[in-house]
Amino acid sequence: MADRTSLDAIAFLKADHRKVEELFAEFKAAKGAAKKQKLVEEICAELTGHTVIEEEIFYPACRGKVEDGLLNEGYVEHDGSKVLVAELLASAPNEEFYDAKVKVLSEQIEHHVHEEEKRSDGIFSRARAAGLDIDELGDLMKGRKKALLAEYKTNGIPAPETRTFTGHTLEQGEPVEKTEAPV
Ligand SMILES: [Fe+2]
Repeated sequence: MADRTSLDAIAFLKADHRKVEELFAEFKAAKGAAKKQKLVEEICAELTGHTVIEEEIFYPACRGKVEDGLLNEGYVEHDGSKVLVAELLASAPNEEFYDAKVKVLSEQIEHHVHEEEKRSDGIFSRARAAGLDIDELGDLMKGRKKALLAEYKTNGIPAPETRTFTGHTLEQGEPVEKTEAPV
């Protein structure tokens, strides 16, 4: 019997969104490389775990009940954010574009969260209206997320796996030129 003191799927995913928003706000105020790196690791772990549970559990449960277009955009938005997560996991806070990458990632996530939480036509409200078993899904996702975060703590955060991006042969172009400080 499911423990009904726990959060349903939508409340659980929303709580996850609030947690990551808080971490981004903390990053904005953070000073010092060590503090920034620690926060980014937390953000990347949270986002990686969050995308895994949505892609493994929540989105498949929504398939056929929520418009394909909405779900497809969700997957593509996830894949977009994974590129910046991978960049940040391979970068250090003293690098020139580090703060910009965190900022742009936070903006991408803000957009994605809005798309999921939109009052009448977001994925969450559509899922609720379609009668998804959000209690059972909440329990499943909670357990899976806990296990994932424990795994990341022990073995490190794995390279994010894209689910929809398939054509990405990227090449490193010329680095952006630094503007010399006027003498
Ligand atoms: Fe999502």
